[in-house]
Amino acid sequence: MQFTVEVGRYNPEGAYAAEAIPGEPYPPPWDKALPRRYQTYQVELPDHAVVLDALIAIREYQDESLAVRCACRSAICGSCAMWVNGHAHLACKSKLEEFTKDGKTRVEAPPSMPLIRDLVCDMTPFWEKHRNVKPWLEANPPPGPMEEYRVSNAAMEELIQEVSCISCGACLMDCESFAVNPDFLGPQALAQAFRYTADPRDAQQRERLGQYSGPGGIWDCTHCFECVTQCPKGVDPLGQILKLRKLAVEAGYTNNAGTRHADAFAESVKHSGRLNELTLLPKSVGFFNVLDQLKTLPAAFNMIRAGKLPPLVHKSIPGVGRIKAIFDRVGGRFK
Ligand code: SF4
Ligand code: SF4
Ligand code: FES
Repeated sequence: MQFTVEVGRYNPEGAYAAEAIPGEPYPPPWDKALPRRYQTYQVELPDHAVVLDALIAIREYQDESLAVRCACRSAICGSCAMWVNGHAHLACKSKLEEFTKDGKTRVEAPPSMPLIRDLVCDMTPFWEKHRNVKPWLEANPPPGPMEEYRVSNAAMEELIQEVSCISCGACLMDCESFAVNPDFLGPQALAQAFRYTADPRDAQQRERLGQYSGPGGIWDCTHCFECVTQCPKGVDPLGQILKLRKLAVEAGYTNNAGTRHADAFAESVKHSGRLNELTLLPKSVGFFNVLDQLKTLPAAFNMIRAGKLPPLVHKSIPGVGRIKAIFDRVGGRFK
C-alpha cells in the first residue's frame, strides 16, 4: 500500500531541499516554536505499517538526511514520541492507515519542546522535571539488620499504573499548562511523584506533598485531559495528580492558591448553583494580594475583548436548593 507522509523538517544551519515548503506558524501558545518546513514523501509499505516504519524507510531509501530518534520499535523505550497529525504519539505504535487523513499523515517534532533537528526534540525540560520530584525512595532504615522491607500486594497494586510509565514525554508534549507555564512540573513528573509518595516504604511523604503543593505543582494542572488521552501506557497522569491533591489536603497543605481556588469554586457553586468569576480570583490569590491580582489584568482584558465578561450581579439559579442537597449528600470538606 502506498502512504503519503508529510514530515516537518528543521535544520539549524538553514539548509533545506527545494521541495521543502514553509509551514503555517503555530497558533498560541506555541507561536514561539521554531518554524519548520514540510517535505512530502511517498512510501510503499504493508497495510499494517506504523509511522515509524515509514520514517525509517524514508531515511534508509530516500533521504538519509532525515533525523529521527527511535530504538525499540516496540512501544517500550519511549524514544519515538512525536506529533502525528497534531498530537503526541509513539511513532512505533501509530498505524499509518489509521492516521491517514485527507490522503496523508503529518509528522513533526512537538512545538512545545526545544528543537534539535527534524523530528528530534530536546527532552531536557522533561528530564529536569522528572528529577525535580525526587523519583526515588527515601526509605526508613530496614526493620532489622538481616530483614527486608515487606510491602503488601494491595499497596503495590495501587502503584502499578504509574510504574507502567516509559518516560516517553508524550503527555508533557501536549500538556496545555506546560505550554503556557514552563515551570509547571507536568503530568509525567507528577505521576511519578504520586508513585513515590504513595509507596509505603517512603519516609518523606509529608515533605514531598509540601514540595508538590507549591508553585508549578499539583494545583497548576488545568484538567485539560490531554495527558490522559495521549499516554500510550494508560498511566492516567491527571488521575495521579488528583490523588496527590487529596493526600496534600489531608496532610494540611491548604494555604495555597490552588486549594483556595478549589474552595472558592465549590463555595460559589454550593451557594448559587454557578461560578462567581468576579470573586474567584481574589479569593484564590488572597483579597489583599494586590500584586498577584494585577498580574492577571492582561488575561482579564483578553476575556473582556472576547465578550466573556462575567455578570456584575451574581444571581442564584432556580432550584439551587437541589445543588445544596448534592453537597450535603456527598459530604466531605464542602458539606
Ligand atoms: S490534565 Fe493537567 S497535567 Fe494533564 S495535560 Fe492537562 S494540564 Fe497537563
Ligand atoms: S505518563 Fe504516559 S505519556 Fe507520560 S511519559 Fe509516562 S508513558 Fe509517556
Ligand atoms: S521506538 Fe521505542 S517506543 Fe517507539
